[in-house]
Amino acid sequence: MQYHGLLEKYGALLNLPSHTRPITLLEGNTPLIPAAHLAHEMGGGFELFIKYEGLNPTGSFKDRGMTAAISEAAGRGVTTVICASTGNTAASAAAYASRAGMKSIVLIPQGKVAAGKLAGAVAYGAQVVQIDGSFDDALTMVVEISKQHPIALVNSINPYRIEGQKTSAFEICDALGHAPEWLCLPVGNAGNITAYWAGFRQYNDLKWTGLPRILGVQAAGAAPLVLGHPVERPETVATAIRIGKPARGEQALEAAEESDGRIIAVSDDEILHMQKILAQREGIWVEPASAAGLAGLAREIAAGSLNPRGKRIVAICTGHGLKDPEIVTRSMERPVVVPPRLDALEEALLGEQRPR
Ligand code: F0G
Repeated sequence: MQYHGLLEKYGALLNLPSHTRPITLLEGNTPLIPAAHLAHEMGGGFELFIKYEGLNPTGSFKDRGMTAAISEAAGRGVTTVICASTGNTAASAAAYASRAGMKSIVLIPQGKVAAGKLAGAVAYGAQVVQIDGSFDDALTMVVEISKQHPIALVNSINPYRIEGQKTSAFEICDALGHAPEWLCLPVGNAGNITAYWAGFRQYNDLKWTGLPRILGVQAAGAAPLVLGHPVERPETVATAIRIGKPARGEQALEAAEESDGRIIAVSDDEILHMQKILAQREGIWVEPASAAGLAGLAREIAAGSLNPRGKRIVAICTGHGLKDPEIVTRSMERPVVVPPRLDALEEALLGEQRPR
């Protein structure tokens, strides 16, 4: 069967108004990749799968919610959309808006957006405005301006974003035949964890697929849901989740509690270490924020507070590594330079062992 995108495949399960006019880039349908080496590294005895959301059309999971939000907006004749973003929402909104023939405006925190995301937003034709402040400041501003002007807000406060993002939970259940025992994922503005929990509950009501326990993971320098209060100046290498006042924080806490899971924080070092071993053991390169869920899982298993034995665990990897190349190139050893001669290449590769 040909794939026509998420609204075609799961539209009947999404609460979207009848005026919705589908705008799609054939998002979703992402692979659930077994990660046996990584599971082994965490102690083994369980099945680990990576839901690789970086393979969506603009390189992140945001496309699932964006096809829904832009389709709804297109159906009621919206001409301009706006969002605040740490980068991925901006690129996604810009791409879908272009496809719908709309203008997009994106507000980003100055100097804190990874190169691949800013480039995406510009390439897709967004009007980009940098805010000399945080993501949280930018979000406050777009909420206000969308109330006062005919500009549609496409942040995950928009309920259709959540509807679209539920589809990943449906896909996981369809692929495994039922929900996994645990689901781990990064938490920033908390739209995604909210959507997963809503999606799993809906599918369980319909198809008895069971419910996962949810492990939400924040970066230690931006962990308002773990600390129990907003963080005025969030700081982390995982710029995607550098958020101090999550818009759907309450719902994230509910999802963790109702699922008998929890929300924890991991350090930047744990995030970068996980990013590296995921790429070097499994061949899956994700941006730093996307490694946070797995870093949290590794920490919980090592601490003995999550027993993975015999379980199926799914980790959501939300964005592609290409979004943030600098995080890797910044700290790498410069590759050696060799003149274009075979003996020089042999010398560089084999040193003293080279045949003479
Ligand atoms: N992972 C990545 C790669 C993200 O870009 C985000 C959020 C998250 C995880 C967290 O998801 O906010 O639903 O809890 N990025 C938003 C943005 C904030 O503007 O692109 P969340």
